[in-house]
Amino acid sequence: MPFRSTFACLWCGTEHTTRGGDDLEGWAQLCPDCLGKAGDNPFLRFRLHEALRERSATGVGAATGVGGAAGVGASTGALERRGPGVEPVRSVATDNEMVEYYEARAWEYDEWYLRRGRYARGPIHDAAWQAELEAASDWLQGVPLHGRIVELAAGTGWWSPILAGKGELWAFDGAEAPLERARDRLLAHRLRAHLHVRDAWAEPDAPADGLFTGFWLSHVPRARLAEFLGLARRWLSVGGTYAFIDSRYDPQSSALDHRPSPDEETTVRRLNDGRTFTIPKVFYEPPELERALREAGFLTVDLETTDRFFLLGTAIA
Ligand SMILES: C[S@@+](CC[C@H](N)C(=O)[O-])C[C@H]1O[C@@H](n2cnc3c(N)ncnc32)[C@H](O)[C@@H]1O
Repeated sequence: MPFRSTFACLWCGTEHTTRGGDDLEGWAQLCPDCLGKAGDNPFLRFRLHEALRERSATGVGAATGVGGAAGVGASTGALERRGPGVEPVRSVATDNEMVEYYEARAWEYDEWYLRRGRYARGPIHDAAWQAELEAASDWLQGVPLHGRIVELAAGTGWWSPILAGKGELWAFDGAEAPLERARDRLLAHRLRAHLHVRDAWAEPDAPADGLFTGFWLSHVPRARLAEFLGLARRWLSVGGTYAFIDSRYDPQSSALDHRPSPDEETTVRRLNDGRTFTIPKVFYEPPELERALREAGFLTVDLETTDRFFLLGTAIA
């Protein structure tokens, strides 16, 4: 299909005008909203792949090697992929219920970030959330990660574009569906990363200069915190940085029908279709985390919090 700078979206009919001749929307003739849903719709996915193929055949936005700098053109090969899905690496049994939950939640996960549906908590709380989320993004932008960066439990890749803009990103998750969303997100940003299914508890396979986890530490049960932080330390070369963003306890952080408790170590989560799952959720306070990071062998530890929702930290190996 030829590139069109203005078109009616082939899926929803909305009129859309692209910003330039290499915009994927113009090649796919899909509006940004529909393009963003390509992961869960065979027609949209087909159009995305066709658009990538057609665009790269013209040399517009041609790909450079994996690990190239931020802003390199996307192509069907922009993210490493073997066979029909992402490559499984499971050297330790995964926490089945949690992986099952996030696998099923992949297509609604970002509603949490975007405060949509059951996660909309009214303008006052949502404005505070939005401001703090932006502060967390700015904070991560400022963390000097570089070189080989590993992201464990990367999920739908909310933070992956920031990380992929800083170095060669290896983004892992125990579930495949969220990684498919991460793939779409990175493609939309024209960034590259290696995406693989991999257990966060698996031993490192190569040293990294940077390690990142988003909202993963709060899924590590207290009894396993030292074990995980030891693993985090082993991922890093000496001088490498572990950076993380995680949850503080706030009753308005989760969905309307979730009842998180600061005192319990598990929480019951519900999907939009009503299915429920029980998963670990621990709201670590900065002093406890700092102590555990130092005990795991990290040297310089810096922890801060936003007003209500987020915990931000770096630790140098
Ligand atoms: C709260 S989400 C965080 C996703 C992402 N890091 C973010 O900040 O938005 C937790 C992620 O952990 C993943 N996960 C759960 N158990 C895992 C395991 N054993 N190994 C790897 N990933 C796991 C889930 O699939 C899910 O994507």
